Amino acid sequence: MKKSLVAYFSASGITAQLAKRLAQAIGADIFESVPQVLYTQADLDWTNKASRSTLEMRDKNCRPPLAHPVPDVSKYEVIFVGFPVWWYRQPSIIDTFVECCHFNGQTIVPFATSGGSGLGDAAKNIQALAPQTIVKEGKLWSRGAGALELKPWAEEYL
Ligand SMILES: Cc1cc2nc3c(=O)[nH]c(=O)nc-3n(C[C@H](O)[C@H](O)[C@H](O)COP(=O)(O)O)c2cc1C
Repeated sequence: MKKSLVAYFSASGITAQLAKRLAQAIGADIFESVPQVLYTQADLDWTNKASRSTLEMRDKNCRPPLAHPVPDVSKYEVIFVGFPVWWYRQPSIIDTFVECCHFNGQTIVPFATSGGSGLGDAAKNIQALAPQTIVKEGKLWSRGAGALELKPWAEEYL
């Protein structure tokens, strides 16, 4: 078994539940990317062109600061990176997390929840930000996915 980390961001708790289930199922460490400034309900309104999330996601260079330092990733071989799909890709704060980590050859496996759309270019985007890693395509999960599904999927990488 390779040593693994589940690193996630979740704005409304759905991905958080999944991430915790996954980490417990495979005995991984866990890290939550908490934004320095938490997202309010209004910030998350994707129907509002002027909401914080809309503005952040429109700017590919946006890097919302994290509240806590990232873990020392050198002790992990596999990192499962979880997030809600925002505007058909990974939220900007995932870019912050990935850029803050000092990778040296880890495998990154994205996973996400969404209202229906897939991960889009998330894997490709993360790979571009972390050239020192191998980024797998990853998987979209339904919010109710349980350990019985999560564990065998994750173990393919461990
Ligand atoms: C700003 C924003 C943008 C979103 N964009 C998408 C999208 O492009 N496609 C989709 O299927 N769902 C989208 N969603 C829905 C979330 O991906 C979905 O509700 C997710 O499960 C929330 O996870 P969380 O509770 O961990 O934050 C969006 C939600 C927000 C707040």
